[in-house]
Amino acid sequence: MKLTPYEQALLEGAEGRGVQKAMEIVVALGRIYGAEDLVEVTSVQVAGVSYKNLGEAGLEFLSDWAAQGARVRVPTTLNPAGLDLESWRDLGFDADFAAKQQRVLEAFVAMGIAPSCTCTPYLVGNLPARGEHVAWAESSAVSFANSVLGARTNREGGPSALAAAIVGRTARYGLHLDANRRAQLIVEVRCPVHSLSDFGALGILVGQQARNRVPYLRGLDATRLSQAIGIDLLKTLGAAMAASGAVALYHVEGVTPESGAPDIIAPDAEHITIKDLQPGYQALNRAGEFTADLVWFGCPHASLAELEEIVRLLNGRQCKVPLWVTMARQLRDEAARNGLLQRFEALGGRVVADTCLVVAPVEGLGFRCLATPCAKGAYYAPTHSGMAVHFSSPEACVETAVTGSWAGVIT
Ligand code: F3S
Repeated sequence: MKLTPYEQALLEGAEGRGVQKAMEIVVALGRIYGAEDLVEVTSVQVAGVSYKNLGEAGLEFLSDWAAQGARVRVPTTLNPAGLDLESWRDLGFDADFAAKQQRVLEAFVAMGIAPSCTCTPYLVGNLPARGEHVAWAESSAVSFANSVLGARTNREGGPSALAAAIVGRTARYGLHLDANRRAQLIVEVRCPVHSLSDFGALGILVGQQARNRVPYLRGLDATRLSQAIGIDLLKTLGAAMAASGAVALYHVEGVTPESGAPDIIAPDAEHITIKDLQPGYQALNRAGEFTADLVWFGCPHASLAELEEIVRLLNGRQCKVPLWVTMARQLRDEAARNGLLQRFEALGGRVVADTCLVVAPVEGLGFRCLATPCAKGAYYAPTHSGMAVHFSSPEACVETAVTGSWAGVIT
């Protein structure tokens, strides 16, 4: 692999052991994947932040790296942590876990990373332009960056994204190359796809068929997806595809920036048709007759528009079941400034910042059964958080919060 003299110097330790270790990781990945050279990145999203996933070994690894002088050299944002950094005690999180989580964040801060703690960095200012090379981790964020923004990133792991931030480069392979951004699966959608949960169910079905390939979706309402609400629908669509099929890039005809590019569909692309979303809904509904004791919105982290919509659906009614919306702290603060947060909390809702129900140790909080319209959360909650899941529309989930009984309709 070709390295510039400067890159070679970093690899040989010219800027200390912390930078050298980062360059070793970037170069090793490049060699494994047959990259010809490195490419400079304009931003990084680092995952592997929750102490629940890192454990003691991960904490030590990060602390050592920070102590070796590793510092990021491009704008870098952080994925969700294991708890709400301000309200953890109030929410019932364990003090010992909180102390360890704090040490993880101290290591990242020492490396120059602001603790943004969100999987929607693009909603809080980390917004690469089309064609920019970036190194992002977290599957839904990767999907959004590639597909909706038209930026270029592979699905980085926590250490590889951090290494890229420290050296400002990543290896040029995979989705950094034009040839790998072409669609290999054409999906004709021949059924109504309207709500947030519909887009999630569709994403689960497409991901199951795509399995790592790039899908090209036809038949979706391009006008609606090009409006403001489209951001929320596309982020849930991409998150679901990433969960069920490791899809890191998708195209939607007439909507996503590369969908009209010449030769964007490979000549040998396979065709499939989706006529019914119910198999997607059924795949995510694994709670049987259990009653939901928590309703969750915000996977990926919610936008202000989603929070506004939940308040509209509550329509002045009080929640009987805890209703949590997970979102970036920066957006939570904005909601507090414009009064939206207060309107939501007055109805018994709760905005939980910095974390989510997959990366937080929610099993210790006593919840057993979740209702959610978020497909990725529904997909992972049983295995990662030990919760039974009801998956349905935003309307049904809000009704569940208000009435205390499961209001989902599975046909
Ligand atoms: Fe984000 Fe957690 Fe979902 S990291 S995409 S809210 S599983």
